[in-house]
Amino acid sequence: MVNATGHTVGIDALAFACPKAYLDLSTLAEARGVDPLKYTQGLGQEKMAIASPCEDTVTMAVEAGRLALKNYGIDPKEIGTLIVGTETGVDHSKPVAVYVHELLGLSHRCRTFETKHACYGASAGLTASLDWIASGRAKGRKALVIASDIASYGLKTAGEPTQGAGAVAMVVSHQPRLLEIDTTTIGDYTRQVMDFWRPLYSKYAFADGHFSIECYLEALSEARSVALEDQAEPIETLRACLYHVPFVKMAKKAHFQELCVAMGRDLDLGQPADEQLFANSFARKVAPFLRFNAQVGNIYTGSLYLSVMDCLSQIDQQGLGASIGLFSYGSGCGATYCLGKIAPTIHTFTSALDITSQLVQRRRLNIEDYESLIAAREVSDQASRLDPSDYNLNHGLAYVGTRNHQRQYEWLSD
Ligand code: HMG
Repeated sequence: MVNATGHTVGIDALAFACPKAYLDLSTLAEARGVDPLKYTQGLGQEKMAIASPCEDTVTMAVEAGRLALKNYGIDPKEIGTLIVGTETGVDHSKPVAVYVHELLGLSHRCRTFETKHACYGASAGLTASLDWIASGRAKGRKALVIASDIASYGLKTAGEPTQGAGAVAMVVSHQPRLLEIDTTTIGDYTRQVMDFWRPLYSKYAFADGHFSIECYLEALSEARSVALEDQAEPIETLRACLYHVPFVKMAKKAHFQELCVAMGRDLDLGQPADEQLFANSFARKVAPFLRFNAQVGNIYTGSLYLSVMDCLSQIDQQGLGASIGLFSYGSGCGATYCLGKIAPTIHTFTSALDITSQLVQRRRLNIEDYESLIAAREVSDQASRLDPSDYNLNHGLAYVGTRNHQRQYEWLSD
């Protein structure tokens, strides 16, 4: 897919990292006296990744970035821009990105910064990177865009079952080996709304939950209209319709709205024919690509790209060259809709895209472990020394405490 400036641009590598422990939502439901079906069917979630005090936005971003370079054979010297999208920064001033820059050994000539716009931060980084390459300023270099977040709502709040944590790293380049982005289709939308926010004094997000769902759906409708110049989404011609996934059911609500627009009428789920039509469309275009999100929970700005990884890991021969729809939403709110085209080289990377083995190695928490990890995280920014082995961490990068008001990171080895 060649854009207006004659460049093919898009995603060349994708990798994922998340905390080593998770909470099963049936465990949470039992502890909160809630019917487990509310979480598993009502929200569509099975598990949520829970970060320990030694796992933060930096450690997850570094691990995802390291895998993106290693698994796709990319030399750190090829990276000319590094952008970390996050709403879980570790400092009011210093960007997460500059820690990541050093820990990944990137060049001092690499432009490096952090973007924040709730769950939209990484998409802002992605589109800025596409523009950087298309402008010619990249001069053959690639951009590394990393989405890294810990989604935290208060204990016993409505948002509690929609937590999660993780990072997705994307390398953006010309001649991308995974997904070409059609930059002529990018449609943006912005509106000031108070649907979800986190004041400076709070570690936990506040949400006007049901209103946030309305804002998300309105932003989808508006961004898609801009992207496709008021045409309905061409659902039938798309291999997949991928959405921001704060919880799996949200993608289902989004797809229902999109199918109504595509059909030019309101579908009635009380009518068997309409119910069947929607069930078939959702089962073919959306549901198969939500497996990872259901196991990890909301990872905020990386959520859409986790669904992209799931989709690309399952592409068969007929899927090569097919188009997919991508919708990114960040509360507050900002959104982008665009189309991507699956690159013919994708099959070389199927195993790099499939994160199933990563997910099954995680440690299951009981409710007491979960609540004590949350309590320990509340004071971890000021802890003078943390021991990663207290949290069963024995490899990779760990945050180990703060000395002279400076965060300390250490590489662990088995
Ligand atoms: P709630 O009010 O506790 O739940 O909070 P509910 O009563 O709306 O129930 C949820 C669903 O479960 C409903 O399904 C119920 O019918 C069903 P729906 O009607 O929506 O299809 N249900 C059951 N199903 C089976 N068996 C049962 C049962 N009971 C109920 N026994 C809410 C839900 C999502 C509002 C809450 O978790 C919340 O506030 N979450 C945080 C906000 C959020 O995720 N918003 C999403 C859109 S905004 C966004 O995506 C941006 C975000 O990622 C942040 C960012 O941008 O940085 C959040």
